[in-house]
Amino acid sequence: MAMKKAQVRRIVDFLASFLLLAVFATGSITLAQTEDPAWLRYAGGPTHFAIPASVRALGTSVLEQSAVEELHRGIAGLNRAKIGIGGKTVVGTLDEVHAAFPGLAVPTHVAAHGFWLKQTARHGQPLMIVAGSNPHGALFGAFDLLRRIATGADVSHLDVIEAPAVPIRWVDEWDNLDGSITRGYDGRSIFFEGGKVRDDLSEATAYARLLASVGINGCNVNNVNDAAPFLEPDMIKGLARIADAMRPWGVRLAISVDIASPEKIGGLKTFDPLDPQVKAWWAAKFNEIYQQIPDLAGVTVKADSEGQPGPASYGRSPADAANVLANALAPHGGVVLYRAFVYNNHLDFNEMKADRARAAYDIFHPLDGQFARNVIVQIKYGPIDFQAEEPVSPLFAGLHKTNEAMELQITQEYLGQQRHLVYHAPLWKEKLDFDLRAENRSTPVKDIIEGKTFDQPLGGMIGVSCVGRDNWLGAPLAMANLYAFGRLAWNPNLSAEQVAAEWTKQTISTKPEVVATVDKMLMQSWPTYVDYTGFLGTQTLTDITGSHYGPNIESSERNGWGQWHRDDAKGIGMDRTVATGTGFIGQYPPEVANIYESLKSCPDKFLLFFHHVPWTWKLHSGKTVIQYVYDSHYKGAEEAARLGEEWATLKGKIDPQLFEQERALLEYQAGHAIVWRDAIVQYFLKETGISDALGRAGHYPGRMEAEDTRLTGYKIIDVTPWEDASGGKAVSCDSRAQKTCTAEWTYKGKPGRFDIAVQYFDLQGGVAHFTFAINGMELVSWAADAELPSRRPNGDNSTRFTVRGPDGRGVVLKPGDVLRVEGVPDAGDPAALDYIEVDPVQ
Ligand code: GCU
Repeated sequence: MAMKKAQVRRIVDFLASFLLLAVFATGSITLAQTEDPAWLRYAGGPTHFAIPASVRALGTSVLEQSAVEELHRGIAGLNRAKIGIGGKTVVGTLDEVHAAFPGLAVPTHVAAHGFWLKQTARHGQPLMIVAGSNPHGALFGAFDLLRRIATGADVSHLDVIEAPAVPIRWVDEWDNLDGSITRGYDGRSIFFEGGKVRDDLSEATAYARLLASVGINGCNVNNVNDAAPFLEPDMIKGLARIADAMRPWGVRLAISVDIASPEKIGGLKTFDPLDPQVKAWWAAKFNEIYQQIPDLAGVTVKADSEGQPGPASYGRSPADAANVLANALAPHGGVVLYRAFVYNNHLDFNEMKADRARAAYDIFHPLDGQFARNVIVQIKYGPIDFQAEEPVSPLFAGLHKTNEAMELQITQEYLGQQRHLVYHAPLWKEKLDFDLRAENRSTPVKDIIEGKTFDQPLGGMIGVSCVGRDNWLGAPLAMANLYAFGRLAWNPNLSAEQVAAEWTKQTISTKPEVVATVDKMLMQSWPTYVDYTGFLGTQTLTDITGSHYGPNIESSERNGWGQWHRDDAKGIGMDRTVATGTGFIGQYPPEVANIYESLKSCPDKFLLFFHHVPWTWKLHSGKTVIQYVYDSHYKGAEEAARLGEEWATLKGKIDPQLFEQERALLEYQAGHAIVWRDAIVQYFLKETGISDALGRAGHYPGRMEAEDTRLTGYKIIDVTPWEDASGGKAVSCDSRAQKTCTAEWTYKGKPGRFDIAVQYFDLQGGVAHFTFAINGMELVSWAADAELPSRRPNGDNSTRFTVRGPDGRGVVLKPGDVLRVEGVPDAGDPAALDYIEVDPVQ
């Protein structure tokens, strides 16, 4: 698996930390980029191979050819015994199978894009049938068969029919023409570069194969926020090449379109969706596109949202805008995914009834029944924005005569940006399984988006993926999210654990102890992240106007974005009740609304999303809100550290490079969880003045602040927001004035062995270096070369480096020892330091 140069360097640095070094560790290993096969490694596999290794297609379609190619590849890898069982594996449509084997009872009831897998015998020879309701189904069937074998299922008597739950199973990429990716965290676009489609689209093909393997059938390739240029004639030619690159794997191209395109690039004076010229423009544009991309799946629209133009400019509704596109697409079989993410980002914080959460329902519910049949309203799972913890959107129950799709994020925008391990499937499952009780009957969200509940023809699951060129999603375990998205879009009844186990067996190892450990880590990761980043439904308390990464509690307050939690010295939470608040709760069907409206029945996890309460409010658990804040953040940071400990048990049992890459990430995460913990705890301790019953908040045994010690060259600075630095202050070394700066502490504690954490800020715009020494003896050096957000020292880039001593069992300290950190600034990175902390080794 390819690694970023920076990651490789971190590993080198880590290894170096066990040695006594007098020089900087600048070694770097450059690894070639690879097309990571992710879960399609075909490395495990049974010792007795149970399907015939001779594979052929019954038909001529390209999808059947791809299926055969994949089966060959899979069998070659998985058939460890290299002994086939004789006979044949055939791939085809049900009709082709019927024609080829007239006597065979071929099922007649396989739904669209579904498949039948059957192991039987013919003239005394084994016969494995991979039959699709169409060639696409056959391709999905081939992947399904290989997954069964790779995960150790018994396929010797296989007889199974499967079909996808929803017809629209797309990933959305937010790629820009210049090759950047909005909310992408692993390199540049696989599709675009320098204002055009890339010459080399081999990664697009490799990606399509990955997507197809988990049942995904569409890929929307461009960012919703800057879509107009994608309809220019030259771009359409380029897009056609992308469609060609993905077609062998049955992944259809889709594109984001800007509703103002008729004006922006079409030369019209208007983009009013009801204007006949505008209608004609769209019809002509889609004719032009379909001539070159005959199987374009459809378009995605973001309008009247976060600065995007929309029909509101002309007093028209989202239905008007969606329908003009839908009518132009209908003759070609395309669909419109119209996003319900429409809200006013200039709300008045002082208006207590103002509520962003209300927006989607307020705007779309009245339009129910007005959308064309090929429009699907695409609804984010929660009413705000891909938060780590928010209730399900009530709009799912508010549209009975409209197709609906659920929009999820695979990329970890608000959930740690792939630097933190967060397996999303449990979060998604919570939303999919949630019973909204529309019409006072059982209406789980998964049934609604399948179109079952309200008898709608279309439905879908959309995952915002944002893969990049360096290595898809970057972090190895983050790929479980891409895998899980496809599997749950295919079958939302799978459990998060089942999906995790499937992924681990195919990607990492089939050894039971490895599967158990990785799956435990995956399942624990989301609650852990919630524990150290937010609490009780406040949403993630990150910098909502900037990076969406590190802590910044006030960034969500007193502005128009409406991600408010309304905290002050007395209490916290958004009153969204019908009785006294914004009335948002009234958008849920009555049975659910009643649960949320009453403080007695509102679940603790959403308490502050729905209610404003005093800090001393007692939760159902009996704990006060403020004590919960302290407890959950200490617990979260401990759990984050435990993830690393669990991973450590896999040493020697899995691929060493994978082990080391994830180990380094988990070490980083454990450090950043402490940054989160301390920011939130010290902020609310100060605001409420209520102390922690367990005495932890505000007390940091073993911590020695940089601003309180002997400094040479370093200057004391205020960190913004203040809660992102211990005590609100740090020290910084100005590269224009200093070559190096030092901070020195005299150790006054008990003698013993300690891990020594150095908390520093790793800024963009330069690579600072640090050296740690005791009594003048340099122990370790490292480079601050991680790729973290922000050019100012804050919680985005506050990073922990732990010195564990030459044998990894801690550093020996005695009173009077002088601990010194030397920082060498580089350009925009001033080698800023927050503190050091000594932690006794047990
Ligand atoms: C989030 C994200 C934006 C994105 C938006 C959307 O707010 O930060 O970058 O454009 O969602 O879903 O459109």
